[in-house]
Amino acid sequence: MPYLSVSRILINTFESLDIPSSRIKRIVSDFRAEMSRGLCAQKSSLKMIPTYVDAPSGKEKGRFIALDLGGTNLRILELELAGNARIRSSFEKRFTLENKYTSGRQEDFFDFICECIQKFAEESKISLKAGLSLGFTFSFPIRQTGVSSGILLRWTKDFSVKGVEGKEVVGLLRKSLIKKGLNYIKIAALVNDTVGTLVARSYSDPDCDIGVILGTGTNACYRERISQIAKLKHNTLKTTNMIINIEWGNFNKLKLAPFDAELDKASVNPGEQILEKMVSGMYLGEIARIIIRDLAKEKILFGAADTTALNRRGVFVTRYLSDIEADSSNGLLKTQRLLRGLGIRNSTLRDRVLVKKICELVSRRGARLSAIVLAAVITKIDSRLLRKHTIAIDGTLYEKHPGYAQVIKATLNEIFGRKSAKIKLALTKDGSGKGAAITAAAIIRMKSKEVN
Ligand code: GLC
Repeated sequence: MPYLSVSRILINTFESLDIPSSRIKRIVSDFRAEMSRGLCAQKSSLKMIPTYVDAPSGKEKGRFIALDLGGTNLRILELELAGNARIRSSFEKRFTLENKYTSGRQEDFFDFICECIQKFAEESKISLKAGLSLGFTFSFPIRQTGVSSGILLRWTKDFSVKGVEGKEVVGLLRKSLIKKGLNYIKIAALVNDTVGTLVARSYSDPDCDIGVILGTGTNACYRERISQIAKLKHNTLKTTNMIINIEWGNFNKLKLAPFDAELDKASVNPGEQILEKMVSGMYLGEIARIIIRDLAKEKILFGAADTTALNRRGVFVTRYLSDIEADSSNGLLKTQRLLRGLGIRNSTLRDRVLVKKICELVSRRGARLSAIVLAAVITKIDSRLLRKHTIAIDGTLYEKHPGYAQVIKATLNEIFGRKSAKIKLALTKDGSGKGAAITAAAIIRMKSKEVN
């Protein structure tokens, strides 16, 4: 490599994390083109999956169990829908999904879910035998074969349970339910978390037409006119719109910096989920680690200190990024403590300021990218931004990461100018599970109307 001055190396690093205004239009138009190709079943990095579900009416009623699976936790909740756009959640329990399950055998994985349901029932004293229906949020790319069935196309977010890809997941869950004596549980709906989030918000907000997750993974769905979904072969919906699960995490028309390419190569799914690897909580810490490690190698950071700890994949978790960015202590002492925890004993203030700057740029790039692809989805629905749009958003990055939501807003403003006032970003906490219950209620309601 030719000799580069310290300032040149830093400028190059900062520039590779920047998305200048001049590049935004290009990303929006590439994303729109991929959306259109995906809707007509042409080759595209966007799967654009029809869900056979539309936004609810707000009149859905009843008691339901929601099973929410797809990140670091499995959540089970009991929900009561009042039928007047109000939802009451009476009991909720979270279970950690250990690596031995998320990368283990299919039977163990589904049996574990059933054991969690049993524990939930014991602790909540909810009698599942009463015949409660269950809404299942399964936050992975699923080809829906019906409202309550779907085939897993591939695992994402480092899940790698064997023998599930290409299989119908509700059938696998049902098999374990029967084995565990829980055969009276009816699985009424299978939804993606983005769909759950959109549905949960639109239960009380008719302007909501997009659902976004910015957490461990990232993805979005939106309400599309059925007439625009050229690849749709059979349709049971009587509405004019259907929710499409974009699976935007797989968008791949983006320029990769060397650190992105390294992260991708070392991942369980190289070449896939490129946008997700630049945006979501699962990967931001790792991007920062690679950049900081490289600067330490060049002796631009930490002088002669021993930084071998930085060579280990995964040591710099995304939570550190949030903690460092939030560090407003004098002398960045919290950052110093955190670096010490990583084995870097002697950081100078300059080192810490630089580390903080890198963390900010990594998460800022992710937030800007998510705002840009969101802008593409909005223009697909309403090219001149004539109507109001509520975007239901859930996920820890959006909710908790310092400054993340503000960067999204500012970027939408940069793209749409004053018209961005028509876009409302609405944090929809725990929407994914609630939405699954509402969808289950909507399906049961629709079926009973068909019978009568
Ligand atoms: C991953 C999954 C997607 C999910 C998203 C957020 O991208 O493929 O289905 O919606 O994570 O959890």
